[in-house]
Amino acid sequence: MKYFTTVHDVIDVDDLVQEALNIKQNPYAFPQIGKNKTLGLIFMNPSLRTRLSTQKAAMNLGMNVMVMNIDKEGWALEMEDGAIMNGANVEHVKDAAAVIGQYCDVVGIRCFPSLQNKQEDYSEKVLLKFMENCAVPVVSLESATLHPLQSFADLMTIKEHWNEKRKPKVVLTWAPHIKALPQAVANSFSEWMCKTDVDFVITHPKGYELSEDYTKGTTIYHNQDEALKDADFVYVKNWSTYNDDYGKVVSTDSDWMLTNEKLKMTNNAKVMHCLPVRRNVELSDEVLDGKNSLVIEQANNRLYAAQAVLKKILEK
Ligand code: CP
Repeated sequence: MKYFTTVHDVIDVDDLVQEALNIKQNPYAFPQIGKNKTLGLIFMNPSLRTRLSTQKAAMNLGMNVMVMNIDKEGWALEMEDGAIMNGANVEHVKDAAAVIGQYCDVVGIRCFPSLQNKQEDYSEKVLLKFMENCAVPVVSLESATLHPLQSFADLMTIKEHWNEKRKPKVVLTWAPHIKALPQAVANSFSEWMCKTDVDFVITHPKGYELSEDYTKGTTIYHNQDEALKDADFVYVKNWSTYNDDYGKVVSTDSDWMLTNEKLKMTNNAKVMHCLPVRRNVELSDEVLDGKNSLVIEQANNRLYAAQAVLKKILEK
């Protein structure tokens, strides 16, 4: 594997999940694989889980790690090719990426969307600039449109709680939020679920349709109660609008917050969220702190998912 930016970079998803589950049993089994190799983690946006789990994953494999919050600690980056750089931006992204590639054997990059310009965000301009110019393998730490390390850990968590006797029903439900958030986690979760043998449905208020590039063939409900019926897993996440009025909050309807009352409609469903979560806005305290919540397990699995990805890249 040279790149890990989408589920489509993975040759065999089941094999990768099994690799991560094996690593979880014995995380220190490969201390030499990353010896004298350096991982550079480049953040253009905040992070807790992705930063710490990927750093620890690399250390478990014997890698050195350098972390840079490039938005605060680096020169202001120019993204436009052919720009006459007589404004505020000091360094072109293609020069910065090429230089980072000189110091690193693998580069991880987090680059959120602006939510101002759909075409620009969905072209993954920044991620592609890094992939084109840094000359080493690149791992997405969440891009404008996808968050594959999160979805991989989510699938791993589902597999650990999967009742082998039947195909599980997995529901992705939109949740209210006060701010406009990217669609990346929802897009990515859909992409990974569509590659998995589960009964996958999505529920959201009208106006929150995701790009069909990630959800094609999935049943969409605008009635959350109907979608939750008999669910085995409920993945809760807010996202902003994708279609006509891109990147906006058009509903904050608190009826969409998942509560224990709503969980009664499910098949005693496990509840998932990528975190960070706005308590009692997206999800109630009672659900987050209840016995069905998998949110801390998901965060734990971020470590083993990242370790499996780095191991595959280093083996190549
Ligand atoms: N879930 C997730 O990616 O968390 P961070 O934004 O804190 O890395």
